[in-house]
Amino acid sequence: MILQMDTLILGIESSCDETSASVIKNGRCILSNVISSQVDLHKKYGGVVPEIASRKHVELIIPVINQALEEAGVTLEDINAIGVTYGPGLVGALLVGLTAAKSIAFAADKPLIGVHHIEGHIAANYLQYPELEPPFICLVASGGHSHIVHVADYNKFEILGQTRDDAAGEAFDKISRAIGLGYPGGPLIDKYAAQGDSNAVKFPRVHFEDGSLDFSFSGLKTAVLNYLNRLEQTGEKVNIPDIAASFQQAVVDVLVKNTISAARMKNINKIALAGGVAANSQLRRDMKNMAEKQGITVMYPGLVLCTDNAAMIGCAAYFEYKNGKRSGMDLNAVPGLRLGY
Ligand code: KG4
Ligand code: ZN
Repeated sequence: MILQMDTLILGIESSCDETSASVIKNGRCILSNVISSQVDLHKKYGGVVPEIASRKHVELIIPVINQALEEAGVTLEDINAIGVTYGPGLVGALLVGLTAAKSIAFAADKPLIGVHHIEGHIAANYLQYPELEPPFICLVASGGHSHIVHVADYNKFEILGQTRDDAAGEAFDKISRAIGLGYPGGPLIDKYAAQGDSNAVKFPRVHFEDGSLDFSFSGLKTAVLNYLNRLEQTGEKVNIPDIAASFQQAVVDVLVKNTISAARMKNINKIALAGGVAANSQLRRDMKNMAEKQGITVMYPGLVLCTDNAAMIGCAAYFEYKNGKRSGMDLNAVPGLRLGY
C-alpha cells in the first residue's frame, strides 16, 4: 500500500549492458525492479560492445521505465524524485539513461538525482537488510571495480583499498575466455569450480608489503595464462574445473583477507558484499566463515541485487534525496567518476 507520506523514487540504470528501471518506496522497499539484460547479444563477441549496448539501451529505456511504473502500480505523478546513474560506466550507455531521466524530470517537474554506480551497488545491501545502517565495510567487486569502502554514513564513503590493475570481475571474465568457457565469466567459473580442486594449482596471491589493502590481479591472470601455455607445450590435458577452482580460490583469498583487515583496522564488525562478484559462491562462503571467526557479521544481497539493477540506484538516490541532493539539468555522464573523499 502506498500512503501520501511515502517517498517514491524512480531509479534508472544503463551504465553497461543492463537496461533497468525501478520504483523504490522509502528507500528500503522494492515496488518494481525491471532488468533487461543484453548478455545474449554480447556473448558472441566475448564481452560488452559499447556501441551495441548504447543502441539497445535506446530501444529499451522507455518500455523498461513504463513497465517499472506499471508493475509498481504508480504513475509519474506519484513519484517524488528520479535517480539515475551518471557514472562510472560506458559513456554512450550512461547517456541513454541520463537523457531519459533528465527529460522525464523536466517534463514532469520532478527533482533529478545523479547517482554514483558504486554507491548504488553498496545500497543494494539496504534493500536486502532493511535494518542495516552505516557504518560498515563494503567490498565492491564487479566487472569494472574492486574497492574496499568504509561506508561511514549513507552519503560518506572512504576508499580503503582498490585494484591497481584489473578488477576482480574482469579477471574472472578474462580467465573464462582463456579456458574456453565464454562470457560472462564469473558465473561460469563459479559453476565449473564447484567440481574442481582449489588446491590443484598454486596460483599467486598478491599482497603489498606496505600494508596497503589494494589489489592486483594482473599477475594472477598472467600466471594462469602461462600455466595453460605450459600444458599446451607438454601436451598435458587441461582440467577446466581444477583451473577454475584454483584461480577462483586465489582471487577469493585476497578479497577476503584484505576486507577483514579493513574491518579490523576501522574496528567495525559488519562487512557487506556488493557488485557482480559478490554473487560468487566461494567468496560468500569464505568471507562468512573467516569473518565470523573474528566476530564480524557478513551480509550480501540476493543474486539479482548483486549484478547491475535499478533498484540499487533508486535506493541510493533516496538517501541522497533525504540528504538534500538535487542535480541540475546540466548533469552529464562521467565515465571515470570517482567515489569517496
Ligand atoms: O556489477 P556487475 O553486474 O557490472 C559491473 O558494474 O561491472 O558485475 C559484472 C561482473 C562480471 O565481470 C561477471 O563475470 C561478474 O560480475 N560475476 C561474477 C559472478 N557473477 C557475476 N564473478 C564471480 N562469480 C560469480 N558468480
Ligand atoms: Zn555494476
